[in-house]
Amino acid sequence: MNPRDPRINGQRLKSTIEELARIGGTPGGGMHRLSLSDADKKARDLFVQWLREIDLEISIDEMGNIFGEKPGEKADLPMVLSGSHLDTQPFGGRFDGILGVTGALEALRVLRESRIETRRTVAIVNWTDEEGTRFPPAMLGSGVWAGRFDRDWAYSRPDVQGKKFGEELERIGYRGQAPARKRPVHAYFEYHIEQGPVLEKIGKRIGVPKGILGITWYDVWVEGKANQAGPTPMDARNDALVAAAEMVLKVNELPAKMGGNMVTTVGEIYNAPNSRNIIPDRVRFTVDIRSWDDSLKKRAAEGCPARMEVIWDIPHTVFDLNLVQRVEKTARQLGYSDHSMVSGAGHDAAYVNQVAPTAMIFVPSMGGRSHVEVENTAWEDCEAGANVLLHCLLESANE
Ligand code: GLV
Ligand code: MN
Ligand code: MN
Repeated sequence: MNPRDPRINGQRLKSTIEELARIGGTPGGGMHRLSLSDADKKARDLFVQWLREIDLEISIDEMGNIFGEKPGEKADLPMVLSGSHLDTQPFGGRFDGILGVTGALEALRVLRESRIETRRTVAIVNWTDEEGTRFPPAMLGSGVWAGRFDRDWAYSRPDVQGKKFGEELERIGYRGQAPARKRPVHAYFEYHIEQGPVLEKIGKRIGVPKGILGITWYDVWVEGKANQAGPTPMDARNDALVAAAEMVLKVNELPAKMGGNMVTTVGEIYNAPNSRNIIPDRVRFTVDIRSWDDSLKKRAAEGCPARMEVIWDIPHTVFDLNLVQRVEKTARQLGYSDHSMVSGAGHDAAYVNQVAPTAMIFVPSMGGRSHVEVENTAWEDCEAGANVLLHCLLESANE
């Protein structure tokens, strides 16, 4: 690649990420910016201000997805889109999702300051509620946009306090006018941290995912009989938490037992009445099952003795081969090492891929840690991945 070709301003990308990290930042150096919280509103306000500063055409849809467009010479052609999410886990990191939004922003800043015009419109997006921690399932914003969830169903989703997605969206002022409906997209690139240990371990800089594992989320309810912790003999108990504990161990044993490429997690548990001297009678816990093999994922839940509800189910994603090869080729042209892989983490790219050609770009996560406060990625890697994104966008936008 010609050294005079445009490049990302790594220093500006770093300070953009650092500025966002102050909104909802935790004392432990991480992020607590749940979807549609006050912190999410502040981050959105700042993001919109940044879009304005580079004269993008801004639109906000009914799901609060925020788009900024730089019109192409042929504005009627399907656009090239890139972005990710600004919401975070309860004690998450500074990069998950944020790198994809700020990387795309940086790419658009470079196009503007270098006065680079493109044939197609280039647009950026911040998807609403990617994490799904507060309002499950995950990726509600991109899921509605892609036509996979009903908008009003999404509005009715409650958080643990019973607050509804729609009300909270309205409250923070981000229930927009534009229909939350897919528009023609020529190519979607999502730039993200790997969130796993592979790239660091093998010493490669750019991860090129060929797809994403399928994911199923369940809620499981276990009922018992509450009673006094003292006088109730051990053989006269019906302890919901003990039953749930046995199930949690079984969930953990599933991947080894089924002999397949699968991971299982119980991450959330609610115990009632949650008093040290009452035998628990109501427990709810979550199960997250992921595999490239959708049938394996389905079989894993068969025979569960408790009441169970599927909260979310998304089959495995196979990205567009042309765009995957474009990511790989671009990384090589820029002189970065690359590695073909599969994403274990879910991304909005999974829903976008169902309606438009899609690919992702990964950079290494230090220590393979993510969804934790110490989540980190070297600034040079952030810059490298953003350069790959910039040139993938440019090539697609001039097709
Ligand atoms: C998304 O953050 C996921 O759970 O993989
Ligand atoms: Mn993410
Ligand atoms: Mn995440």
